[in-house]
Amino acid sequence: MNTANHALLEIVSAGVTFTAGFAGRVRTQALSDMTMSVGGPDPSITAVVGESGSGKTTLMRVLLGFQPTTDGTVTFDGRPLERFSRSELRAYRRQVQAVFQEPFDVFNPFYRIEHPLVAPLIAFGLASNRRSALEQVAAAMTAVGLRPAETIGKYPHQLSGGQRQPVMRARAMSLQPTILLADEPVSMVDASLQSTILEPMWKINRARDRTGLCHA
Ligand SMILES: Nc1ncnc2c1ncn2[C@@H]1O[C@H](COP(=O)(O)OP(=O)(O)OP(=O)(O)O)[C@@H](O)[C@H]1O
Ligand SMILES: [Mg+2]
Repeated sequence: MNTANHALLEIVSAGVTFTAGFAGRVRTQALSDMTMSVGGPDPSITAVVGESGSGKTTLMRVLLGFQPTTDGTVTFDGRPLERFSRSELRAYRRQVQAVFQEPFDVFNPFYRIEHPLVAPLIAFGLASNRRSALEQVAAAMTAVGLRPAETIGKYPHQLSGGQRQPVMRARAMSLQPTILLADEPVSMVDASLQSTILEPMWKINRARDRTGLCHA
């Protein structure tokens, strides 16, 4: 694990401009001169607040390396993301987990809901077999307030939007990330449930050595 003083994940003067419309004539500056860091020496929570369309989801996609920047740089452990080798990118994909705003996009309708949770646990060597992976998945689901017995085995369309969102949180947490990026994890659920959602995240955050949580 990194012991340097710099933040683990840093974004410096980053900008993203999208072009859309006929002949790319519509230009949208989704992110402009964005500088921030996540994951200092102590566990922390960073909140990014902004009105609809202000670039929160774009920022998260940039931090994940899914969205190239038009300007600026993103570094992890002092190294630019764009220069990562395949194996570094693989390590990055485990250490930095995300909970997306619209979880339905993440689920493949042809796979049962637990598939995107079980597969990475085995792929990253966090579970030695499917049975042990399923046990970890069930524990993570319980931690986010889902009933594993009523969730495992279902297809994405057989759950409500409010049930799919915690499945993503369970996935992110079961991979034991160093940094957890969450895009509006509380927006899709009733206000009374917000504390039960953030509480397990915060517990995990505190339990780890060095965790940044970016809650857009
Ligand atoms: N792929 C894209 N192509 C063109 N424009 C885009 C694209 N993605 C986002 N935008 C534009 O970039 C801006 C920022 O979008 P973004 O989704 O990051 O906002 P947001 O802060 O997450 O909003 P919300 O709170 O509604 O989720 C918006 O004006 C949006 O229309
Ligand atoms: Mg958004």
